[in-house]
Amino acid sequence: MDYTQAKQRIEQLREILWENNRKYYVENAPTMSDYEYDQLMRELEDLERAYPEYASRESPTRRVGSDLETGFVKYPHQYPMLSLGNTYNIGEVEEFAERASKSLDIPFSYCCELKFDGTAICLTYRYGRLFRALTRGDGVMGDDVTANARRIANIPETLQGEGWPAEFEIRGEVLMPYESFERLNRQREADEDPLFANPRNAASGSLKLQDPEEVANRGLMCTLYHIPAGQVDFPTHDEALKAAARWGLPVSDERRLCKDIEEIEAYIAHWDTARKELPYATDGIVIKINEMDAQRQLGYTAKSPRWAVAYKFKAEQALTPILSIDYQVGRTGAVTPVANLEPVFLSGTMVKRATLVNEDQMAMLDIREGDWVYVEKGGEIIPKITGVEESKRVPGARRPPFPTVCPDCGTPLVKPEGEAKWFCPNNDGCPTQIKGKLVHFLGRKAMNVLAGDATVDQLYNLDLVRTPADFYDLRESQLVMLEGWKERAARRFLDSLRESRNVPFERVLFAIGIRYVGETTARDIARHFGDIDSLAAASKEDLLSVPEVGEVIADSVYRFFRDERHLEEIRRLKAAGLQMSVSQTVGRVSDALDGKIVVISGNFSVSREEMKALIEANGGKNSGSVSGKTSFLLAGSKPGPEKIKKAESLGIPVLDEDAFRKLIPEGTASATVTEESEPTLF
Ligand code: IVH
Repeated sequence: MDYTQAKQRIEQLREILWENNRKYYVENAPTMSDYEYDQLMRELEDLERAYPEYASRESPTRRVGSDLETGFVKYPHQYPMLSLGNTYNIGEVEEFAERASKSLDIPFSYCCELKFDGTAICLTYRYGRLFRALTRGDGVMGDDVTANARRIANIPETLQGEGWPAEFEIRGEVLMPYESFERLNRQREADEDPLFANPRNAASGSLKLQDPEEVANRGLMCTLYHIPAGQVDFPTHDEALKAAARWGLPVSDERRLCKDIEEIEAYIAHWDTARKELPYATDGIVIKINEMDAQRQLGYTAKSPRWAVAYKFKAEQALTPILSIDYQVGRTGAVTPVANLEPVFLSGTMVKRATLVNEDQMAMLDIREGDWVYVEKGGEIIPKITGVEESKRVPGARRPPFPTVCPDCGTPLVKPEGEAKWFCPNNDGCPTQIKGKLVHFLGRKAMNVLAGDATVDQLYNLDLVRTPADFYDLRESQLVMLEGWKERAARRFLDSLRESRNVPFERVLFAIGIRYVGETTARDIARHFGDIDSLAAASKEDLLSVPEVGEVIADSVYRFFRDERHLEEIRRLKAAGLQMSVSQTVGRVSDALDGKIVVISGNFSVSREEMKALIEANGGKNSGSVSGKTSFLLAGSKPGPEKIKKAESLGIPVLDEDAFRKLIPEGTASATVTEESEPTLF
């Protein structure tokens, strides 16, 4: 690899990893498996080591991913929340132990623990009471999820026993046990809500809910495994955890003290199998140096402690026969082979289907009819087939023929240049594609209409809806005649459609479903052209002048607006009252403070009236007095002492203007603060 290639690959890897971090931490919908992610991270680490001239402090190898979201009050952690160096290779655990022996000149031992696969949490106890709960955030600041943590059954509100410090932080993981996860996804399926891919995503999604009551229903649990040295003084990590357990905090009993690598390996070997019996997900073992003095000697890198390492288990596999193969057509016409399997238990859940990705992957695996296959869970909801057990193959078993025509509408499939998949080109006539587009149109990130696949299926099959505009012609009198529809359901659906008329143009453009126009591209294009007519009239050059828009997107958008049927659809949607231009009104600018009740006190860089308008423009509500319902007190200079006292006694966060402005998107603030001041967070 030459320098230019190395630089290109480094940049490409950074981009992929950042994007996946965002999907993983913010959207709770990862697009690759942990294993794939870790392999790419390794590749980037190796390249950065080989080409140090391309090192960057912004690289994902140096920074932990961020779960910070707008809409949460943020607080700094007392000590940064780091991640752990990880490996899938037992040899590297041996190297970790050797390195420790070499650099330590005092006796030491290891504490081995399960690596819990949930979402990290940091609890602060003050005077024996739960004071605050923060997510990991970006490692330096975390999102305040205290109200939600209070609704997790095994997080104690008050400590027991004695000897706890006046204030200390303790860290651990919030988990969703398999049983709660299954129950939640069954419920979401019934409600036609999108499913969570795995218990980890469900746990972090639940911890970020804006409704603590709903959190209480999610069946979460917490397990704690780390008290940062500083506020608590114990000679060993194990003794710190024992003390935490005496204080009534949930600490796992599965940890073991090990004196050498043989004992560590025995612990790993035991849990590699035994973990399958646990009621929650684990993805490895964490090996920590037990003695605090030794930990201090080893110290930290920018991203992780040198006194600990995580050994990760390879994804669990299950072996099961293929019963049949479906060829699924997506909303873009892409055909994906999906195997129906003899149901098999895998990582806590029953698996009945697994993806075979595309024709090339099937050929690479050399799949034959009736084959027994290995199944693994990746990042997505549908597991993947990763291999074939040839010893179980029936002699002479045939290769399943890949269809040459669309399994739904019979149109001959095509494979466009540069694509790995076959496509049904009948985009506007193929029922599965049409239904897929309708579901996408109504989706949460698009028009956010309360309806899912089953509703769309029903309306489509009855010939009531063919294109998105048809939804807006539906009448209550029509809907109540349909099977399973009561008056209330019909009204709810129609109300939701009516409300969708306020959905901003950016999202309408995403909802329309132009190929390659995702959420971000839709926003960029909408802001650039301002309204649908200018966009429809744009030449390819005009489109290419939008930053981030390349040939493929420009071509797709250009062709979309050259089709008379699409233009007619846009005319109908416009007539139905949908937003077809970027809003110029001074009304709502963001949802950052959605549901937040804010009390303001003192003087600010702008008038109090402007401050109130700013809160409302970002979705918050103003209130005159501090109560249990207050989300936070916004204190300027010279705030009312009574208000501050009341907020403190109720444990309500007090934010100064700087901290407040960090909560709302940049550019919505109408004035800037002139004085440099530290955010005051009491
Ligand atoms: S110790 C300074 N112990 O794994 C390091 N972490 O990949 C403190 N995790 O961010 C972390 N089980 O969210 C530790 N027994 C355990 C753990 C554990 C799961 C998570 C934690 C951490 C991540 C690193």
